Amino acid sequence: MSISPARRVAYGVLRAVHDGDAYANLLLPSRIRQARLSPADAALATELSYGALRMQGYDDRVIALAAGRPVEKIDPEVLDALRLGVRQLLGMRVPAHAAVDESVSLVTAAGRKRATGFANGVLRTVSRSTPDQWRARVLAGLDGDELLAAESAHPTWVVEAFRAALAAEDAAAELPELLAADNVAPRVALVALPGLAEPAELGAPGGVSPVAAASPGGDPAALPPIASGRARVQDEGSQLAALALSRARPISPGERWLDLCAGPGGKAALLAAEARLGGAVLEANELIPARAGLVRRALEVFDPPPVVHEGDAVAFGRDHPGEYDRILLDAPCTGLGALRRRPEARWRKQPSDLAELVPLQAALLDAAVVALGPGGLLAYVTCSPHPAETREQVAAVLGRHPGLRAVDTPAVLAGIATRDLGLPASPSAQLWPHRHGTDAMFIQLLRAA
Ligand SMILES: C[S@@+](CC[C@H](N)C(=O)[O-])C[C@H]1O[C@@H](n2cnc3c(N)ncnc32)[C@H](O)[C@@H]1O
Repeated sequence: MSISPARRVAYGVLRAVHDGDAYANLLLPSRIRQARLSPADAALATELSYGALRMQGYDDRVIALAAGRPVEKIDPEVLDALRLGVRQLLGMRVPAHAAVDESVSLVTAAGRKRATGFANGVLRTVSRSTPDQWRARVLAGLDGDELLAAESAHPTWVVEAFRAALAAEDAAAELPELLAADNVAPRVALVALPGLAEPAELGAPGGVSPVAAASPGGDPAALPPIASGRARVQDEGSQLAALALSRARPISPGERWLDLCAGPGGKAALLAAEARLGGAVLEANELIPARAGLVRRALEVFDPPPVVHEGDAVAFGRDHPGEYDRILLDAPCTGLGALRRRPEARWRKQPSDLAELVPLQAALLDAAVVALGPGGLLAYVTCSPHPAETREQVAAVLGRHPGLRAVDTPAVLAGIATRDLGLPASPSAQLWPHRHGTDAMFIQLLRAA
């Protein structure tokens, strides 16, 4: 049987993710272009590859049950073809014969002809039971967070971290909703850079940010304001994080602002637009040269473009004590708040990542506090709700710097957002995909003495 172009592209993406360290959200658009897929085939390739990567933990349990062996004992080339087949059988309205036959053909095309009988047998076994029957088998004997993790295709440690973050605001009952939101592709949100573009030029208004528009569909890069750099693709939570810093209080002309860890430059672009309107001057810093290049590209729409420094933020803070009126520290983090955008990310991240990130975040916070002038404002932001990266970091930095004060960030956001965010009373603000339609951004404004 011939293989449809969409399945060939989806299979290539799965192999590149599992065989190398490709990111599906970066690779898929170029593979779609190379294969000249029609819009319908592009949508199918996206649904197949994103679905198979997201649901991998669940589908692998099904494959192991149907194959009678752990997935680690299955050739990776064969396993990826099975994953695509299982996703179609359990999660998509694809006729069983097409799902099975095309997946078996992928096994042949991958040079694993001797495994075609095995692949055919596994997929036929899967196709003989309904999705509900498989669900009952996969979840049998599980309870608590392990049950939620298996059902929603998340690693258990991630579910536990989400539970802890929700419990901190008495909302642990929302956990299933949050996990479900991670498995739905987000709407593409756009930002109109203030003073350079209007949201109405882009599409319908956004959900929570005053400078957002919903993408009208199709390739956003084709919209003239985006092509010219006056507007960008940006999650609305990220927009609110940047605006929390720029709109927390009136801008005094001549203020110096710093985006300490700026790559690839999304928030820097919004801050630069806000700074320009208020008469402030933004500088940016980024460790990785290629990412500093992306920041420069994001800022080239401004005349003159903001200065972009290249180097370690910890050293930068030490070398510029007391110089800045406002600093954004959008810290490197686990990214657990953006899993809906990066389908394979949940399986790649490890609890051990925290062991490196938490001390780095603390050092970056200290550096930012050093660089802050008297009365200066610091926005500590992560796209993760993990307590160790959020509330615990804030409590620790307040302990280390007695003059530093937590600003009531939900109150600031209430004056910015286009609708009531319903944030609980707390100095920090945690946004959630299931409640706000944004990534799970954490935002804490801090004020120097
Ligand atoms: C969460 S991202 C920032 C995203 C950015 N604010 C945006 O909206 O596009 C964190 C950035 O910090 C950078 N980074 C990591 N360690 C750093 C360090 N020691 N000094 C400066 N930048 C660092 C990473 O390379 C990454 O680009």
